[in-house]
Amino acid sequence: MSAIFRRNISLIIFITFFSILISCPSIQTKDLVICNIVTNNLPDAAAIGTFADGKILFNIGNEDSLHLIKPDGTSDFINNTCKLMDSKGSCNYHLLNPNYVIITSKHTCKVIDLMGNIILKNFKYDKMSVSEKNDRFLIMKHKNNEFTEYNVNNIGRISKRISSLYFSNKRHKITEIFSLDNAWGIISTTKGDNSFFSIIEAQAKNKTLIVEELYDYDSTDTDTTKCITNNQINDIQYYCLYISSNDNTLKLLNISNLSLNNNSFNINTTDLTPDIGFDTDTYIHVIPNVGFLVEATAYLKTKYYIFNIFEINYFDQNNAFGELIVNNTYNNFLGSHIFTLPNKTIVRMIENHNSIKFVQNDLTSKIPKNNPYNNPHIKQVYPPNNESIAIGTDKLNITFLNPIDPTIATYISIYYINNTNNDESILRQKFLCTSPYCIISKDFYSLTIYLSNNTFNIPNASYYVEIDDKFIEYKYELIKIPGIKPRNWIIKTDSILGKLRLNSTGSDKFRNLSDAKKSVFFDNMTNELVRSIPIDYWRIKNVKYEDEIDMVSGATLTTFSFQIDPPKTHDINKNSSKEVLEDLNSLIRSQGFTSNLDINNYTGDIDKDYGFQKESM
Ligand SMILES: *[C@@H]1O[C@H](CO)[C@@H](O)[C@H](O)[C@H]1NC(C)=O
Ligand SMILES: *[C@@H]1O[C@H](CO)[C@@H](O)[C@H](O)[C@H]1NC(C)=O
Ligand SMILES: *[C@@H]1O[C@H](CO)[C@@H](O)[C@H](O)[C@H]1NC(C)=O
Ligand SMILES: *[C@@H]1O[C@H](CO)[C@@H](O)[C@H](O)[C@H]1NC(C)=O
Ligand SMILES: *[C@@H]1O[C@H](CO)[C@@H](O)[C@H](O)[C@H]1NC(C)=O
Ligand SMILES: *[C@@H]1O[C@H](CO)[C@@H](O)[C@H](O)[C@H]1NC(C)=O
Ligand SMILES: *[C@@H]1O[C@H](CO)[C@@H](O)[C@H](O)[C@H]1NC(C)=O
Ligand SMILES: *[C@@H]1O[C@H](CO)[C@@H](O)[C@H](O)[C@H]1NC(C)=O
Ligand SMILES: *[C@@H]1O[C@H](CO)[C@@H](O)[C@H](O)[C@H]1NC(C)=O
Ligand SMILES: *[C@@H]1O[C@H](CO)[C@@H](O)[C@H](O)[C@H]1NC(C)=O
Ligand SMILES: *[C@@H]1O[C@H](CO)[C@@H](O)[C@H](O)[C@H]1NC(C)=O
Ligand SMILES: *[C@@H]1O[C@H](CO)[C@@H](O)[C@H](O)[C@H]1NC(C)=O
Repeated sequence: MSAIFRRNISLIIFITFFSILISCPSIQTKDLVICNIVTNNLPDAAAIGTFADGKILFNIGNEDSLHLIKPDGTSDFINNTCKLMDSKGSCNYHLLNPNYVIITSKHTCKVIDLMGNIILKNFKYDKMSVSEKNDRFLIMKHKNNEFTEYNVNNIGRISKRISSLYFSNKRHKITEIFSLDNAWGIISTTKGDNSFFSIIEAQAKNKTLIVEELYDYDSTDTDTTKCITNNQINDIQYYCLYISSNDNTLKLLNISNLSLNNNSFNINTTDLTPDIGFDTDTYIHVIPNVGFLVEATAYLKTKYYIFNIFEINYFDQNNAFGELIVNNTYNNFLGSHIFTLPNKTIVRMIENHNSIKFVQNDLTSKIPKNNPYNNPHIKQVYPPNNESIAIGTDKLNITFLNPIDPTIATYISIYYINNTNNDESILRQKFLCTSPYCIISKDFYSLTIYLSNNTFNIPNASYYVEIDDKFIEYKYELIKIPGIKPRNWIIKTDSILGKLRLNSTGSDKFRNLSDAKKSVFFDNMTNELVRSIPIDYWRIKNVKYEDEIDMVSGATLTTFSFQIDPPKTHDINKNSSKEVLEDLNSLIRSQGFTSNLDINNYTGDIDKDYGFQKESM
């Protein structure tokens, strides 16, 4: 009796497990729990990977099952996968595009489809690697250093290519292989324990490898190394990230100029800056078309560092890394819990008691990027480079990628650029970046710089901001942030040009006026714009009117251009030229209520959909 009772309970829990899985909402919103799986005991789950179409694949080891969650939220599973290997031990899984899974156990491998059908039967190998794009895999047998590259297409047909590789020096023993798109990366060691790197394109004619020594490569912990390919126009570059053997720092390897003739290549390594302060192991994941995601924990907090290899030159000391900090106290799924989706999004599996949550994070705002300031630590500045501000502006601000702290103060200088004297710079103001001039926001992500209100005092002028190196440091890392070099951050007090147009009714009426009346009309239109904002009359000047042909309707419509000047010290409305332009644009576009513009004879026929657009000077 009691036995039956217990079975019923486990059955109920079992049903809950699958019904919740199936009711997963679709993967849509940012930083959102997309799915919650409840199991009857502590799950032993691990991420396997993301298929090119966005499906994610994970396994629950203690249930011997593979699970898929599709982008639309539906799910599927394959039962008894390790048993397919006739294995009592543990199995490893690798995802293979478009719809396959490689199961390995004790140097034997099998390929199955997502229904659990076997596509490729057991075969033995010594080393295996699945390509970054997961559409092919490579096995190696030590005997004759024989490599076989397999490619499975979408109807399950397998093609393979076999070749043997040679070292000019027989002492090299292969310890690790990488499938790099169209090439194979190889790590070998010699008795001296030194590690060497070799690379060869799959179709290379010359099968002799060239070796280059890899410094601080831990040949006993090779699983953590991850590689990515960046297809440049004239040169394919390969990047590998590994953890150095002696000091736990990250090393980035840059491989380029691979020659098809003799397999020669250029190699360069650099240390990546973050002093991560590891508590436990560090894991490296690949983010497609970006670079690497490195996971480390310190003080029970999990940190994810993002390296944008495709955009940022990490061989330059001015580099930056993106960082997310997550409180991961109860998570047992470290390392094998991340899915990187093709669109700069990750899904993390988080264990919480007897359930697994799938949480989605959009990384877009965390990925460091190049910018005009030549400083990838900076996310944005206000006012942005080359933008116009009002005379008398007394604040600037900078938003950073990561939380910041003050340092021992360094200087910020603002220069006026004298256009009539070979762009000579004349210092306007120089001050220490410290309170009360530099104030860090409550969320630690931005810095506001307070200036004297006569710093930007000349209309139609250009200025630049220079910031000395190390003006700020990271709150959670031992890293000081470089400044902004002269003329990388230009601020203007320029006038700007904008235009509007009349709809076809208005354009036809206007075209029938005499030239004198046209000119009166234009003046009156300008007056009405000034009154509508309102703003000092001299700041908006009419420039010209002309006909243009609307691309969509083919109608000939009349456009009117205006110059907006920056404010003067005593103006009531001190908005910058750009802000006035934006005000006019939203005033014209607004629908649903009647404004002064709508009831006026000179502005009533303005084309609302066209709005007020910026023109280049
Ligand atoms: C990324 O893709 C997932 C599904 O594949 C989608 O739910 C998500 O909204 C996408 N994220 C972004 C930022 O486009
Ligand atoms: C998986 O297979 C085992 C053994 O065949 C079976 O007991 C179990 O119910 C199956 N699980 C599911 C979810 O079908
Ligand atoms: C192959 O490359 C090796 C050096 O890597 C060179 O010594 C050898 O001559 C090359 N063989 C051919 C046929 O080009
Ligand atoms: C990698 O090396 C090549 C050739 O030396 C170089 O052009 C490229 O800029 C390097 N990439 C980085 C990120 O330093
Ligand atoms: C490696 O990178 C450093 C730093 O950028 C550079 O000075 C050096 O020339 C590079 N070496 C090679 C072989 O590209
Ligand atoms: C992490 O979050 C848990 C639950 O919210 C909390 O109890 C714990 O103190 C947090 N740990 C840290 C290090 O912030
Ligand atoms: C600067 O501030 C002072 C005091 O608040 C004010 O009198 C002056 O008009 C301001 N100058 C500018 C250019 O805004
Ligand atoms: C920076 O300044 C702009 C304009 O004053 C403001 O809109 C923005 O919120 C500020 N940003 C921060 C982070 O203070
Ligand atoms: C800019 O240079 C011109 C020509 O040398 C000079 O006459 C003028 O005074 C300078 N402007 C300022 C603001 O120094
Ligand atoms: C239109 O402008 C003319 C001068 O250009 C002026 O005399 C007239 O009063 C204006 N009319 C209106 C309605 O503003
Ligand atoms: C608008 O035009 C009508 C007809 O031409 C005229 O009667 C009216 O006074 C004008 N209104 C304004 C505000 O100019
Ligand atoms: C032009 O705008 C006026 C005022 O909104 C409107 O009465 C007229 O129908 C519009 N003409 C066209 C062709 O949309």
